[in-house]
Amino acid sequence: MPQTNIEVLFSEESIQQKVKELGKQISEDYKDKEVVFLGILSGSFIFMSDLVRALSIDVECEFMRIASYHNSTTSSGKIDLLLDVNPKKIKDKHIIITEDIVDTGRSMHFLLEHIAKYEPASLKICSFLFKEEMLEKPITIDYLGFKIDPLFVVGYGLDFAGKYRNLPYVGVYSSDS
Ligand code: IMP
Ligand code: MG
Repeated sequence: MPQTNIEVLFSEESIQQKVKELGKQISEDYKDKEVVFLGILSGSFIFMSDLVRALSIDVECEFMRIASYHNSTTSSGKIDLLLDVNPKKIKDKHIIITEDIVDTGRSMHFLLEHIAKYEPASLKICSFLFKEEMLEKPITIDYLGFKIDPLFVVGYGLDFAGKYRNLPYVGVYSSDS
């Protein structure tokens, strides 16, 4: 699927290699623990589906939906909770919040605060991408795919105005071509 307005940043091969490494690390860290992957819709659905299949441990999968970008390439600053998780699925479990990208960190701070109220046994973060320079308040990303420059990227779950999520690679999006 050639896209003239998207310059490849991470190939399908390099992504799959990274996901395998993350899967191995998480499987070691969480052996003998009841772990729940909490995917944040929609962006994380591709990453999470590959990641859980790269694990050698049993896990549960739950989802939440929030909205922070509204058809633009900059953060709106406002977070809407569109679909919550059942608190019973979180209480006393080891939770790994699974995101496509941490940009300003506003979404992740909202999620950390929100999930903490449901009293998990532990709470960690796994993010496929991280725009470190954009971060407003410190966040520890326990499991990270790649750090990137503050550019707008699409593919492998990440969208622009709802499109390009199904690209198997990640690329920098430019609107002017
Ligand atoms: P934050 O709250 O600013 O950290 O934004 C996080 C959310 O913004 C992510 O979960 C994405 O949905 C979206 N986002 C941030 N940067 C990008 C990007 O480069 N491409 C697509 N979506 C992005
Ligand atoms: Mg997102």
